[in-house]
Amino acid sequence: MNSSDPRKPRLAVLISGGGTNLQAMLDRSAAGTLDAEIAVVLSDNPEAFGLKRAERAGIPALHIDYKISAQSPVKQAERFVDLADLDRRQKIIKNPDPSERLARLARLVLAERELALRIEAFRPDYVCLAGFMRLLSPYFIGHMNHEGPKIINIHPALLPAFPGRSGYEDTFQYGCKWGGVTVHFVDEGEDTGPIIAQAVYPVWPGEDIEKIRNRGLSLEYEVYSQVINWLAAGHVAIKRGPGGRPRVEITDPDYAAIVAGWVRKAL
Ligand code: GRF
Repeated sequence: MNSSDPRKPRLAVLISGGGTNLQAMLDRSAAGTLDAEIAVVLSDNPEAFGLKRAERAGIPALHIDYKISAQSPVKQAERFVDLADLDRRQKIIKNPDPSERLARLARLVLAERELALRIEAFRPDYVCLAGFMRLLSPYFIGHMNHEGPKIINIHPALLPAFPGRSGYEDTFQYGCKWGGVTVHFVDEGEDTGPIIAQAVYPVWPGEDIEKIRNRGLSLEYEVYSQVINWLAAGHVAIKRGPGGRPRVEITDPDYAAIVAGWVRKAL
């Protein structure tokens, strides 16, 4: 496995934890049903079990250290980025103290530069976030997206409902009767990028959060792999919607049948 096929898009997969989405991709890749090559797996967490999953599959597995201990991070970051401009554009670090905010942003950018360099060495076509728990600054996003949207994420809720880290918990606590999962392009906001695909699952009376999470996760595996296959086949078109917001259209003639299959499976 992991033999280079020039026709297949190359993926860099970013994880922070268990990596069951990664495992689903690895399994589909081994079974020949993922139309992409997983070129490298990276994690901000050296203990992430997902790194072991990658190693077991013979795929480079790299740790990127986000604990930047530089003495003057602002000065260092300013060597390659206009930090004041980045601070004006960023929406993720909300510390009201400007010097503390700049120092945090600088440390983030220093870690992201390392991340970007490591990723680029593997020449991926797409960067797939799969349980990567770090927020990305406009520096990293701009760097990766200079030739068009390249970073995609799986989110455990039906966006724009319940952005953030606890999609399943939020869905459950709110008392939703349906939950969902979303794969989207990453933009500079938190879980606000153009939606590529979504699927829903029912929440039946008396079910607990574990049941909900497991049902959602198995849907995540299906939807994420399908989106990768759509990208590989050139079935993901980005258009301008009303108000200028970019929106995705899936041009696969089997789109409706595939979505109906997800709903049937979840019921
Ligand atoms: C998934 O629920 C994903 O939607 C979210 O983080 C979780 C990662 O799970 N972003 P795993 O590491 O793939 O098992």
